[in-house]
Amino acid sequence: MAKRNIIKMGDPLLRKICKPVESFDGKLAQLIDDMEDTLHAVGGLGLAAPQVGILRRVCIVEYDDKLYELVNPVLIKSSGKCVDNEGCLSVVGFRGLVERPETIDIEYFDRRGRKHSQHAEGYFARVFLHEMDHLDGILFADKMIKKIIDDD
Ligand code: CO
Repeated sequence: MAKRNIIKMGDPLLRKICKPVESFDGKLAQLIDDMEDTLHAVGGLGLAAPQVGILRRVCIVEYDDKLYELVNPVLIKSSGKCVDNEGCLSVVGFRGLVERPETIDIEYFDRRGRKHSQHAEGYFARVFLHEMDHLDGILFADKMIKKIIDDD
């Protein structure tokens, strides 16, 4: 069990293109376990490896009490458009309205290297797309059509 430090917008590591995972080994399992501990410690719907300073294509999503571990995720298909509110553990002080596809199909590998497919709609799809953007150095702040300043 280990909580890792989450880096914040302005850190150049958040802007890098992450490399695919090639070894489904103990180091990957440790990274994913630590990312889960980190997400559970701070709260949130997802976390990507670059947010803990690791430039690999790994992210996790927790939605409706189910945890998804995505290694080398790929967007296969998307359709529709919708706008909703997003925040990010690496972005402090504001949220934003972002337009994203309404429905998606993705493929990814789990920590053991087994391939999975997932269909997602609405906010569930949004969380996957937000985390997958991190793997290409993209933050919601780059895409937002309206900035929402936190009150507190
Ligand atoms: Co984020």
